Amino acid sequence: MDYNKFMEEFFKMTKLDLTNYKESQMKRRIDTNIKRYDCKNYVEYLNILKNDKKALEEFMSYLTINVSEFFRNPTQWDVLEKEIISKFLPIKRTINVWSAACSTGDEPYSLAMLLLKYFSADKIKILATDIDLDILKQAKAGIYPDKQVINLPSQFKSKYFKQNKDKFIIDNSIKKCVDFKQHNLLSDPYPKNMDLIVCRNVLIYFTEKAKSDIYNKFSQSLSDDGVLFVGSTEQIITAAQYNLQPSKVFFYKKIKK
Ligand SMILES: C[S@@+](CC[C@H](N)C(=O)[O-])C[C@H]1O[C@@H](n2cnc3c(N)ncnc32)[C@H](O)[C@@H]1O
Repeated sequence: MDYNKFMEEFFKMTKLDLTNYKESQMKRRIDTNIKRYDCKNYVEYLNILKNDKKALEEFMSYLTINVSEFFRNPTQWDVLEKEIISKFLPIKRTINVWSAACSTGDEPYSLAMLLLKYFSADKIKILATDIDLDILKQAKAGIYPDKQVINLPSQFKSKYFKQNKDKFIIDNSIKKCVDFKQHNLLSDPYPKNMDLIVCRNVLIYFTEKAKSDIYNKFSQSLSDDGVLFVGSTEQIITAAQYNLQPSKVFFYKKIKK
């Protein structure tokens, strides 16, 4: 069995299309697992994945690395606040924001805290999505270890969190601004009319073709003047191809037609 056949069988089993993930990275991980489980080849490893729930969960969690934190890369959040959110101020209707691949919710909740500085809660609508249902459960619970709140500004920590030993519990007023849903960036339809899309630290795992499809869909998902905020290693080289214009570093504005 070659890698293509492995991907085919894996898709039948999980509905996850590995052709969208970078091949070299994926093969390296599979080879490591083949050795770890004492398998001889892809066939034997597939059998393990079919029959051993834990092995499958472990491989899936490799594909969905869930690391996140509040205000990850704080200087970029400063730019978001000062240069982007301030431009939304004249908007009178609801502000639509999408945090795509939101993991444990740190990112959409950070967005809610920031937006609440400028808008009333009834004007903020944050859609937060991830492929991983278990992680979405954690996000909804909103309880965090201290390492995830390390960059959280102290005024937000005191206003919106209760501390219980080494855990930080987020307030309902923030939870209410966020609607969590399962969504696969590679295959599900994208929402429309987003003023801001935040998608960080996930596209690095995908092939150039998959990324290109996603940028096209993000562009269609943005409202006129809408902004896409990407991760620190995810700058878009050919933004104009997607009808996007670099605004600040890591921020792209949709070009009006
Ligand atoms: C490293 S976390 C990024 C979390 C957050 N955006 C941040 O930057 O802190 C990557 C997230 O992408 C999600 N993910 C992986 N593949 C995905 C897909 N095809 N569609 C949607 N989410 C996906 C994972 O489940 C994981 O929660």
